[in-house]
Amino acid sequence: MYDIPFLDLPPLVGASGTVRLPGSKSISNRVLLLAGLAAGTTVVQDLLDSDDTRVMLDALRALGCGIERDAASPATVRVTGLGGTLRVHEADLFLGNAGTAMRPLVATLAVLATLQGGRFTLRGVPRMHERPIGDLVDALRPLGCRIDDLGQPGYPPLALHGTAGGRLALDAPIRVRGDVSSQFLTALLLALPLAAATRDVVIAVDGELISKPYVEITLNLLARFGIAVRREGWQRFVIPAGSAYATPGAIHVEGDASSASYFVALGAIAAQGGAPLRIEGVGEGSIQGDIRFVDAAEAMGAQVKRGPGWLEVHRGRWPLAPIRLDCTAIPDAAMTLAVMALFATGTSRLDGIASWRVKETDRIAAMAAELTKLGATVVAGADFIEVTPPAGPWRAAAIHTYDDHRMAMCLSLAACQALVPGLAGHAQPVRILDPRCVAKTFPDYFEALFGVVEAADVPVIAIDGPTASGKGTLAAAVAAALGYGLLDSGALYRAAGLAAVDAGISPDDEAAVATLASRLPLRFGQGADAGRTWFEGPFHGRPGREITDELRLESTGLLASRVSALPAVRTALHGLQLSFRRAPGLVADGRDMGTVVFPDAPLKVFLTASAEQRAERRHKQLISKGISANLPALRADLEARDRRDSSRPVAPLKPAEDAKLLDNSELGIEQSVQQVLSWWQERRPFDVS
Ligand code: DC
Repeated sequence: MYDIPFLDLPPLVGASGTVRLPGSKSISNRVLLLAGLAAGTTVVQDLLDSDDTRVMLDALRALGCGIERDAASPATVRVTGLGGTLRVHEADLFLGNAGTAMRPLVATLAVLATLQGGRFTLRGVPRMHERPIGDLVDALRPLGCRIDDLGQPGYPPLALHGTAGGRLALDAPIRVRGDVSSQFLTALLLALPLAAATRDVVIAVDGELISKPYVEITLNLLARFGIAVRREGWQRFVIPAGSAYATPGAIHVEGDASSASYFVALGAIAAQGGAPLRIEGVGEGSIQGDIRFVDAAEAMGAQVKRGPGWLEVHRGRWPLAPIRLDCTAIPDAAMTLAVMALFATGTSRLDGIASWRVKETDRIAAMAAELTKLGATVVAGADFIEVTPPAGPWRAAAIHTYDDHRMAMCLSLAACQALVPGLAGHAQPVRILDPRCVAKTFPDYFEALFGVVEAADVPVIAIDGPTASGKGTLAAAVAAALGYGLLDSGALYRAAGLAAVDAGISPDDEAAVATLASRLPLRFGQGADAGRTWFEGPFHGRPGREITDELRLESTGLLASRVSALPAVRTALHGLQLSFRRAPGLVADGRDMGTVVFPDAPLKVFLTASAEQRAERRHKQLISKGISANLPALRADLEARDRRDSSRPVAPLKPAEDAKLLDNSELGIEQSVQQVLSWWQERRPFDVS
C-alpha cells in the first residue's frame, strides 16, 4: 500500500498479464454481519481485507462475536455469531466511512436494542456524518425503535437504545424509501429476520428502487444463511415467519466486480498486444450487479471473454466509442465509464447517477473537477455527467481523490493518455494525491496495476557518491517518500564479490567473475522482507542462504571495489541494473548511476561529505553493531577506496555533468531528503500552488 502524500504515475503504454481481485466489499460486509448474527461458526474465505471490512470486524468483535483469522491464510476468517441474542448491551462503534457497515448495523442494533435492551452509539469519520441515513431512521422509528440523532438530524452519529422485553410494531408493512440509496432496504432486509421468528415481516418500498443489483446480492446472501425472502416485484419484500439465520458453514467471497472495472477498462485501452489482460476473481455467474459494467465496456470497444471466475480483456475498437447510458444499475462501476470517456471519439453521457452525490464524496462534482483538470470538457447536472475528451494534449494534473477510493482508481487510468492517437510524445505523468485512500476496498490496487502495465519514461533519480557518504540511507528515504523502487547498485558488486569467493574464483579473474556476475542467483525481499537479500541455492555446491549481513561487511566492500574495476563485470551487471527501472519509478544509488547506467535520469544527485565525516559515520555505524573499529584506519581505507573508484578507467566515480552536488557534511538526513525532494519537485510538471 502506498501510504504517501502523492503517487506519480508515468505514462502507461501497454497492459497484459493477470490480476487477482480482492474480495467484494459488498459481499464481505454482508457476509460478516450475517455470520455475526447466525448461531455457530462460519468460515469466510477470500474476505476482503480493507478499511471497510476492518471496521465491520471491529464492530462485531465489540459486540461479542468470535473473530479468528486463519494464520496460514489471512483471507480466511472464522466468525462465531451471536445466534440472534445480544451478549454485549452497550457499545460505542466507530465505522469509518463504511456505508456497508453503518446502515446494516444501525438497523440490526436498533432492532436488537428494542427487543433485548441496550445502548449503542454509531459514528464515523466526518464525511460519514454528511452521508444521509434519515430514510432508514424514519423506517425504524415507527416500529418503536428509539434512535437519537447525536449530530445533525438525519445523519450519523446516532444513539440507539431500548429496554429488554420491548416490542416492535410490525402489523403494518415497514415503509422505506428506495430512491436515495438501496442500502436502507438492504439494512432492513438483513436486520428484520431478527423479528420474524413468529410472524411474517413485510417491507414496502416507496419510490422507484435504485441499485436493484445490490438488493439482489442481499437476497442471495440471505438465502445462503437460510432466509428465503419473498420478493413481490421491487416494491414488497416478505421475510417469512420462522426465519432464523443459519450458517452455511463455509462461504466464499467473490472478487469485487467494481474493482474489476478498472482492469476491464485498462484492457480496453491498453491491452493491444497479443496477450490479453486476465482478471481473476469474478466472471460468468457473478452475483454482483457491477459485472454488467463489462457490457458497457464492450459497447465502448473492449473485447471480453468470460468464464467462471475470470475475464480476459483485449483492446478492440480504438479509440473507444462514446457511450450514452442509464447507469442506475451500475452506479459504482459507472465512474470508470466516465474516465473511459476520455479515450472516446466524441461526447459520452451517463445518466441515472444521482446516488453519486451521497457516496464517499459528491462524486459528480469530484469527477467533473478532476476530468476538467486533465483538459476534458464536462457538463454535470443533478443526475448526469457528460464528458468530451481533451482536444489536444492533456494537462499534467495533480488529481484530488477526496478520500474516495474509486476516484483514485478511476483516475489512475488517465496515465494511459500516451495511447491516444497523436499523443505518444506528449504524455504527461499523472499525480494521484493521497493514494492510500484505495485501502477502502483495494489496498494493493497500485501494486496490482504496476504488475500488469508497461510504462514509458519511467523516471529515475540517480544518487551517486563516494563510500559512506550516506547515499544508501538517502536513496532509501527518497524512494520511500515517492513510492519508488530502490536499486542499491553497490550491493550487486558486493554480491558479485561474494559469489566469486563462494565459487573459489580470484576476484581479479575478469572473465570468470563476469560470467558469474551475469547469472547471480539473487533474490531481493519484497514487502515485509524489503532490504533482505538471498542467494538462491544451490550455488557452486553451497545451499541457498540469506546474504543481507555478509553484503554489508567491510571485507565485502573491499571485494566489491576490486571486482567493480573490471570492465567485463560492469557490462555483465548492466542489464540487471536496467531491469530495476519499473513503474512508478526508481531511485538508484551507486557510483555511475547518473553517468553510465541511467544517463537519461531526470534528476542526478552527487552526494559528498568530507573524508573525516564519512569515516566518523562509518565508525559510529560499526560500533553500534558491536564491531570494534579504528577511526584513522577507517579513514585511510575510505580514501584508498575513493582513489580506486575514481581513478579506474571504466565508469570512474565522478559527478555527471548535469548532476546536482549535495555536500551533506553538515546536513542531517532529513534535510538531505528534503533537498532532493525539492529538486525533484522542480522537475515535475505539476502545478502544486
Ligand atoms: O556503495 P557500496 O559501498 O555498496 O559499493 C561497493 C563497491 O562497489 C564500491 O567500492 C564501488 C563499487 N560500485 C561501483 O563501482 N559502481 C556502482 N554503481 C556501485 C558500487
